Amino acid sequence: MGSTDTTPTDHQRAQAVEAALGKLDLAAKVALLAGADRWSLPANEDIGLGRLVMSDGPAGVRGEYWTAEDPSIAIPSPTALAATWDLDLARRTGGLLAQEARRKGAHVVLAPTVNLHRSPRGGRHFEAYSEDPFLTGEIGAALVGGVQDGGVATTPKHWVANDSETERFTVDVLADERTLRELYLAPFEAIVRKARPWGLMAAYNQVNGHSMSEHDELNNRVLREEWGFDGILVSDWTAARDTVRNALAGLDVAMPGPVTVYGERLVAAVRDGRVPEETVDDLARRVLLLAARVGLLADAPAVVTVTPDRIDGEALAREVAARSFTLVRNDGMLPLSTELGSVALIGAAAAEVRIGGGGSARVFPTRVVSPLEGLRAGLQPSTALSYAVGADPRTHVPPFAEPLRAELLGRDGEHLASASLPDGDVRWLGRLPEGVGFDVLGGVLATGTLVPRVTGVHRLAIRGAGRFRLEADGAVLFDGVVEFEGTDPGGAFLNPPEAVFELDLPTTAPVEVRLRHTLSPGSGFAGFGLVSFSLGHAEPVGTADELIDEAVAVAAAADVAVVVVGTTDEVESEGVDRDRLSLPGRQDELVARVAAVNPRTVVVVNAGAPVLMPWRDDVAAVLLTWFPGQEAGAALSDVLLGFSEPGGRLPTTWPADEADCPVWEVEPTDGRLAYDEGLFIGYPAWQRRASAEPAYWFGHGLGYTDWAYEGLDVRLRDDVSVDPGVSVDPGVSAAPGVSAAPGADDDPYAVRAEAVVRVRNTGARPGRETVQVYLAPDGADRSRPDRRLAGFAVVSAEPGQVAEARVPLPLRAFQTWGPNGWALRPGSYAVEAGRSAADRPLTVALDVPAAG
Ligand code: BGC
Repeated sequence: MGSTDTTPTDHQRAQAVEAALGKLDLAAKVALLAGADRWSLPANEDIGLGRLVMSDGPAGVRGEYWTAEDPSIAIPSPTALAATWDLDLARRTGGLLAQEARRKGAHVVLAPTVNLHRSPRGGRHFEAYSEDPFLTGEIGAALVGGVQDGGVATTPKHWVANDSETERFTVDVLADERTLRELYLAPFEAIVRKARPWGLMAAYNQVNGHSMSEHDELNNRVLREEWGFDGILVSDWTAARDTVRNALAGLDVAMPGPVTVYGERLVAAVRDGRVPEETVDDLARRVLLLAARVGLLADAPAVVTVTPDRIDGEALAREVAARSFTLVRNDGMLPLSTELGSVALIGAAAAEVRIGGGGSARVFPTRVVSPLEGLRAGLQPSTALSYAVGADPRTHVPPFAEPLRAELLGRDGEHLASASLPDGDVRWLGRLPEGVGFDVLGGVLATGTLVPRVTGVHRLAIRGAGRFRLEADGAVLFDGVVEFEGTDPGGAFLNPPEAVFELDLPTTAPVEVRLRHTLSPGSGFAGFGLVSFSLGHAEPVGTADELIDEAVAVAAAADVAVVVVGTTDEVESEGVDRDRLSLPGRQDELVARVAAVNPRTVVVVNAGAPVLMPWRDDVAAVLLTWFPGQEAGAALSDVLLGFSEPGGRLPTTWPADEADCPVWEVEPTDGRLAYDEGLFIGYPAWQRRASAEPAYWFGHGLGYTDWAYEGLDVRLRDDVSVDPGVSVDPGVSAAPGVSAAPGADDDPYAVRAEAVVRVRNTGARPGRETVQVYLAPDGADRSRPDRRLAGFAVVSAEPGQVAEARVPLPLRAFQTWGPNGWALRPGSYAVEAGRSAADRPLTVALDVPAAG
């Protein structure tokens, strides 16, 4: 570990970087530090430097274009990956992201998101891993390792304390140093020190009065000097706002471009002495090193020269999904028999599953397997499968399902080009069809044929901001401006406004629908290299009461009812936080009514983050599927029918009630958001209050077999010595107590002890168990959590067999942050092994003497 390059190829790369840097004048160096466009840094032929392309992101690699015409493998949401607790799977997922990046010509993947689940209201919760910094750091480091082993860079983000979205561009997060070090910085530190990412993304927000892209202390002192980070620090998109402060604080790259705070402004700042030229050299050197690492700099060997073996993306997406599905309740009804007589599948998301959260993490796959399709394929042909919507929580009209024709028009309405669109979404980012330039684009006319399946009142919708004209069958339904009313500059794109119109169709004769969007300079997204709007269509449906009645009837007539409920784009998306945790629409009522007529009801929750489940004790089983990615229905069928075991364990505590949540507020006061709860977020906060139990604890999740925890030893490593005299808690494992004496090694992730946990599969099926080890310092130190996760391992065993989980415990688990930095906390600890933060059947005492 350490920051200095050591191998011969590292040396060769460093030399090539210095040689290239030496050939550049000030303007050429500065040109390397800002986007040439939305996603790339410019090439420079003089030094043999290629164009360096960046792409989102955490749930798949979108590439340079925000469109279904440039598809990607959509993997499950990051909460799902964390729910696997499986580092090998996280590493393989990283390998898939690298493969996708290479296919799409991207060199940097803008992932993973390693902010913490501080309050359950965080709108981008689905995109981050966990409430626990250790689990976040472990999964994050494994993913980064997997991506970079594929020769592609990562940028763990958003550095740091971007844990909610309200006022995200400006909010000043106030947190004391211990809180920052032990919680919010911790995953970044683990990833930087263990996986050595080639990049990191500076967040929009401020921390203790300084914007993160201007944070000299955190960027230059902590990240670079203390942790040895030698990658690029890139701004979140538009987060760089001050030329001098950004450069002095070590912000290497300001994105996007070409409009930038660097460029000429940075050249001028160097010329008049506000920024030393050596500072620009440092920034440019790091950009060149990144280019060298990914193979874009002449005479510099790329880090990875052999393309790794091909990964089957669809198969891996399906495997991760099944491994992530978290069974929080099962009265024995799951797995289902494949030979059931009849199954009623209910819910809007059963037919149109939500595969990922909204915002920049969104990708467009070539196919999505819905639960309806997945179950149909998994069940025997003899099983009758019926479907009812039951309740549709979406408040927006979905995009037109049929293909549309699009005509690109010039400023005077003249024809420029034509394009076909797979559905009602018109979205071009950075590139227009047939090479049309954004500077000449005056409008877009989208035309489609609506073939009604039923007569009655249909709905048509415009989703997007700006000037539109909507016609159906020659009649003008709207001609005017759809305004965006929020304050988030990206909001009109991420969460666009909608205008809905009724269209009464007395017959099923086809109807031509035309939607024209006019772009005027200064309106909508003109000037941003972006066209984004949709034409929506919804058929007449029954009233909400009728939909529920229909679902209840279908459920009552079936052997088993499977109800798929979930959140919507409005609830979980970038740029907004959540007001409530309840399921939107009338889904709670739907579940309660179905459960009342069919005791064999399984509820599948399609949400990226916690929702309230007031009916959870009244149904036979509850399976959380997160946002499961494109293979959703295939994985669901695998798990419900028992071909795969649900492998997930909660990466975050799920509350029973909003009022019980230890941390709720995400709204800043006068621009400031105080993390007054300090170290108490997640399960430590729940355990501290003791007054309210959550619905399901961090770490909880059931498989299809049972396990007995039979033994726990803590074995020692290196300089850690055994003290057999230390007592063992009564009624627990008879393993000897141990005495750990961490030595002088300053690697905080060096293994200091190893817990060996023996678990027996006492059920009738082979299974996997996620063994968790918590470390609880003795004594009444109210300033710190009662216990923290210190290690984990996934093991498998056949029925009746014992598996041994070897769980390494790092030095850092025994340290706290104090006035003099990190310090070993001497004294006694309980090492606890179990299946969740609240279910820890085995305990061994461990005594840690003061170091030295
Ligand atoms: C998001 C980043 C993302 C970037 C580029 C920003 O708004 O916060 O996570 O990588 O956009 O899409």
